[in-house]
Amino acid sequence: MSREILKIVSLNKAFGRVQAAADINLSLQEGVLTSIIGPNGAGKSTLINILSGSIPPDSGRIYFLGTDITRLPVHRRVKLGLCRSFQLVNIFPELTVFENILLPALAAADRTRHLLRAIRRETAVRAQVAQLLERIGLQHAADTVASALSHGDQRVLEVGVALAAKPKLLFLDEPTAGMNPVERVRVLENIRELSHSKQTTFVLVEHDMDIVFSLSDRVIVLHHGEVIGDGTTDAVKNDPRVREVYLGQEVPA
Ligand SMILES: Nc1ncnc2c1ncn2[C@@H]1O[C@H](COP(=O)(O)OP(=O)(O)OP(=O)(O)O)[C@@H](O)[C@H]1O
Ligand SMILES: [Mg+2]
Repeated sequence: MSREILKIVSLNKAFGRVQAAADINLSLQEGVLTSIIGPNGAGKSTLINILSGSIPPDSGRIYFLGTDITRLPVHRRVKLGLCRSFQLVNIFPELTVFENILLPALAAADRTRHLLRAIRRETAVRAQVAQLLERIGLQHAADTVASALSHGDQRVLEVGVALAAKPKLLFLDEPTAGMNPVERVRVLENIRELSHSKQTTFVLVEHDMDIVFSLSDRVIVLHHGEVIGDGTTDAVKNDPRVREVYLGQEVPA
């Protein structure tokens, strides 16, 4: 049995009359690749925003590896190893690919106090950056400015930026948004491999059902802020409530 990495107890969040998180109770296990799906407006991004600390819940508690993090600010959660990427691209377009990864890697190694000196001298961190670039398949583009990358590679770089902080738990909100199918498969296969290496536990928000069902160990379905399905891909595919919500949309049989 893997250990519990995140526990969510009775989490609620309303925006006016919209219940974006409705009594959510979940336990996430280390090393289990979990996807969160649900129609537009289901509350997927809200849940990730609450868990990563960018918006407070109205009520409920969140435990990360047993520690109550409900009231911790984002940077304290990041220090503990809980990170996220955004639905929109979030990189420094004028820096090179290498530099985009170097910055969070230096921060993770506590080397940002004398930043420029650190960047020139930190051979150990630079070696780690090179290794990470290889893992995400961007080593050939290390010296390219980020804005010159294809959209798909920018998203890959974004995942790399998140990984450079050495997270134990990483939320990826639509990492393949705006990618072509080839880029999509490449990015998700990459995530699958990284997940197998067990250094980071991934939680994905993803719209493409084929991808979700081929990649995930576990699928959680949200609808109007509520968890309406949760289990293995097979269990969720055959869940009558899930099928009802997706009626008219594609759910692979
Ligand atoms: N800051 C906000 N202020 C007001 N309402 C919000 C806010 N953020 C989200 N909502 C509302 O909460 C509900 C859940 O939104 P959320 O963005 O979490 O959905 P989502 O599942 O991520 O949708 P999508 O698939 O479109 O990204 C929606 O009705 C949305 O309009
Ligand atoms: Mg969203």
